[in-house]
Amino acid sequence: MAVRDAATGVELGRVPCSGGQEALEAVDAASSALGDWSARSTTDRATVLGSIAHALRARKDEFAAIITAENGKPLDESHGEIDYSADYFLSAAQEAIRLAEESIPSRNPARSLAAIPEPIGVVAAITPWNFPLAMLARKTAPALAVGCTQVVKPAEQTPLTAILFAEVLMDAGLPSGAFNLVTGDASAISRAWLSDGRVRKLSFTGSTRVGRLLMHAAADQIVRLSLELGGHAPFIVFRDADIPAAVAAAIAGKFRVAGQTCVCPNRFLVAAEVYEQFVTRFVAAARALPIGKGCEPTTRIGPLISDTAVARVRAQVDDALAKGAKLLAGGATVPVTGCLDRFFAPTVLADASPEMLCFQEETFGPLAPIAKFGDEAEAIRIANATPYGLAAYAFSSDAARLDRVSRQLHCGIVGANTGVISDAFAPFGGCGWSGFGREGGRWGLYEYLSWKYVCTATRVS
Ligand code: SIN
Repeated sequence: MAVRDAATGVELGRVPCSGGQEALEAVDAASSALGDWSARSTTDRATVLGSIAHALRARKDEFAAIITAENGKPLDESHGEIDYSADYFLSAAQEAIRLAEESIPSRNPARSLAAIPEPIGVVAAITPWNFPLAMLARKTAPALAVGCTQVVKPAEQTPLTAILFAEVLMDAGLPSGAFNLVTGDASAISRAWLSDGRVRKLSFTGSTRVGRLLMHAAADQIVRLSLELGGHAPFIVFRDADIPAAVAAAIAGKFRVAGQTCVCPNRFLVAAEVYEQFVTRFVAAARALPIGKGCEPTTRIGPLISDTAVARVRAQVDDALAKGAKLLAGGATVPVTGCLDRFFAPTVLADASPEMLCFQEETFGPLAPIAKFGDEAEAIRIANATPYGLAAYAFSSDAARLDRVSRQLHCGIVGANTGVISDAFAPFGGCGWSGFGREGGRWGLYEYLSWKYVCTATRVS
């Protein structure tokens, strides 16, 4: 398969287009390696993970250049992604060392009770293109930390980052077979893994549509799942918020990877009293964002990943305008010399309302629709009026309000007075149509463990 530069479309390289056969060979290798890797001491495994974290940072420039080429994001963001990825290895290593058998107080003096954490076995991961390295790290680090072995399929747009990642893992001393990368036909590979029986878990980050298909396919072999799916994050600005700070957070959160993250604010809800002030400042800041190739040092907005992505943003803009929204910035692609027509300008729509597509569906692009609300109850009602539940953001100078609102929002992650919430040491994941399971910190490890309960009679009865 050809891998192309996201900005120019120029071929960067070719990778194998594997299918079911190769997918099963990967499972063979992972199964053979499982006994040795899971039997090693946690300290041994944590040491390898520590070396991986170190090697990722040591090869930062190399990774950043590849991520920016195949994904399109600005180099600064690619550098940030590498630190974020290395942190997943540190976090998993630390948490694995803390993980211990638990002795459970028994009501019956004739019995002692224990819970023993065990690796699930061979696990699979299917990762997206928006964070070509971090989403791999987020799934691989906890799996390896607890003694699982893994088979992985990276997104077809960004396999070169995954190949370099595999090289780093091998160089860091991971035994052969513990991590197996298969590039190629997504449906053939996932079908082979989910019907094999030796694969005991699949972790997937991607669309809700594909998540549903995988859930059906996982049913036959009762494969455990973690699904990090679409988001539709509300970004609520209360009348007592620090408006310049809220605008800065909105820009940072909304336009990261040109709006192509699951946790990007998707709907802006602003209190009527501060609406004009927020909108004026936000529009000025959005218009000032430099658009261009990710490899140019000044670029803040790179290309969208595909023509389909451009068409989806355009359709949402057209729909909103037809339903009464006001276009205040952007609204179309802008030409960049020598590049594909995929650079969508940061777009701001005022007077957005719930009947517009952009208020119902995830955009995955640089579109910020803004609506006005009256009181706190109305803001929460609009924010929760969606089957998705990944991230939400709230801005206020009243700590009690932030606490109250955070607890009432239906989602897995809340950014309170911040637009950037990702942290490898914290539990990342959603509810409802945004999926289930948590990645990061000790919560990430639990996804790869099976707890064995042992009840021992202290007197033979
Ligand atoms: C995602 O978009 O799936 C992940 C975003 C993040 O980790 O910040």
